[in-house]
Amino acid sequence: MSRFAIISDLHSNIEALTAVLARLSREKVDRILCLGDVVGYGPDPERCIDLVVENCELTICGNHDEALMRGAHDFNPVARQVIEYNRRMLKPGFIAGAAKRARWRFIENLPVSHREGDALLVHGSPRDPVHEYIMKTDVIFIPDKIRDVFAHFEGLCFVGHTHFPGVFTEDLRFRDPSQLDYHYEWDGEKAIVNVGSVGQPRDGDPRASCVIVEDGLVRFLRTDYDIAMVQKKIYENPNIPDLCAARLEIGK
Ligand SMILES: [Fe+2]
Repeated sequence: MSRFAIISDLHSNIEALTAVLARLSREKVDRILCLGDVVGYGPDPERCIDLVVENCELTICGNHDEALMRGAHDFNPVARQVIEYNRRMLKPGFIAGAAKRARWRFIENLPVSHREGDALLVHGSPRDPVHEYIMKTDVIFIPDKIRDVFAHFEGLCFVGHTHFPGVFTEDLRFRDPSQLDYHYEWDGEKAIVNVGSVGQPRDGDPRASCVIVEDGLVRFLRTDYDIAMVQKKIYENPNIPDLCAARLEIGK
């Protein structure tokens, strides 16, 4: 069986993405799959799209990728400001070159889900692939939601979207990677694995997050990258709110 990596929520952070791709090359994975949100928040959406096209066998549509095409009406003001800026950068005009058109077409045609053997891959949730957040607090405060989410798939389901890695099981438990000693051995029961975020982690660990999957074993990886460099680019860019830089060093 192949050894593949799953990455998600790159959010235009080329420094994080480059560091993760270098790590995955050292880890000798056969394939890389991406759960979306290639754009938004960070300073380098074009370079991130190019690297994803080059390195990922498959990319799923995230809510920021969708908002690039259809508008960010339901986004908070910070997320909306950056995605609208991204649209001005990326949308091909009448005389756009081939590379620009290809990037736009790539995001426009992303699928919303994918089945990979026993696993379903979506950005958010099996019952609402692009938009729904499965939060760790839902197991306590909205258990019926989690039960219904589990009724919408078989086997394993890989998600991103919350930027908070960990594993949900059908007995209404959530365990983060440190509680799992950074690996989860799939026992055949239904489970939802959140792979975390490459470009904007929100679990308090600022290192880029992703997973490697091999023979039912999911390994959670964290990778250091040059956070100061991304922050500098954001602070120098009047189109991106400073908050998008400040949060990177605390992973929130
Ligand atoms: Fe995201």
